[in-house]
Amino acid sequence: MSFTIAIDGPAGAGKGTLARRLADHYHLHLLDTGLTYRAVAHALLSCGLPLDDEAHAIEAAHSLDLGKMDRAVLSAHAVGEAASQVAVMPALRRVLVDKQRDFARRPPGAVLDGRDIGTVVCPDAEVKLYLTASAEVRAGRRLAEIEARGGTAEFSRILDDIRKRDERDMSRADSPLRPAADAVLLDTSEMDIEAAFLAACAIVDAARAGRDGF
Ligand code: C5P
Repeated sequence: MSFTIAIDGPAGAGKGTLARRLADHYHLHLLDTGLTYRAVAHALLSCGLPLDDEAHAIEAAHSLDLGKMDRAVLSAHAVGEAASQVAVMPALRRVLVDKQRDFARRPPGAVLDGRDIGTVVCPDAEVKLYLTASAEVRAGRRLAEIEARGGTAEFSRILDDIRKRDERDMSRADSPLRPAADAVLLDTSEMDIEAAFLAACAIVDAARAGRDGF
């Protein structure tokens, strides 16, 4: 029997950090599904192929090893932008979603974060969280991350990119970003990671209380 925690929300809402904290705390596997779209985008970019090359995107998805995704390479801002462009292709999504579902089934369970985990990948997840924060707060967090790594960037450009990415992710026809009907919404605009973690633990503990063997 496995237990799944689904975390969805827009870029920069704090999903990744929260997912890691929850996976550590509850001893569950962890999958950042954004990395799977980033890996496909990166494969296309590296070969100089257009981001709407469906056949090559699908090939890259089939050969993707979820255990070997290089976060350092894939976390580049430009790769995230490219990922949201490849992510509109339904046939590609089907291949990646199958892999994500296989991962989620591994006992004792997993925390998955992304855009469509509660709605499409794991609609039966025991816990569904939808993290949001204002675009300004999310852009500020991204800028701080870039600066912490020794880089520089302009706040207005990051804000612009975040708004464009929200628009693309929320308006695509296949698996748009939206909260599942049974997701709990957490707005992290004025909440630090510790507060978000504690709020999430209360939700997970309540769900666990109704389950045996976890
Ligand atoms: O979360 P991250 O910024 O790494 O995601 C990159 C892009 O991949 C997103 O903007 C989105 O378009 C796409 N994605 C998706 N479904 C997921 C995870 C990510 O469409 N489950």
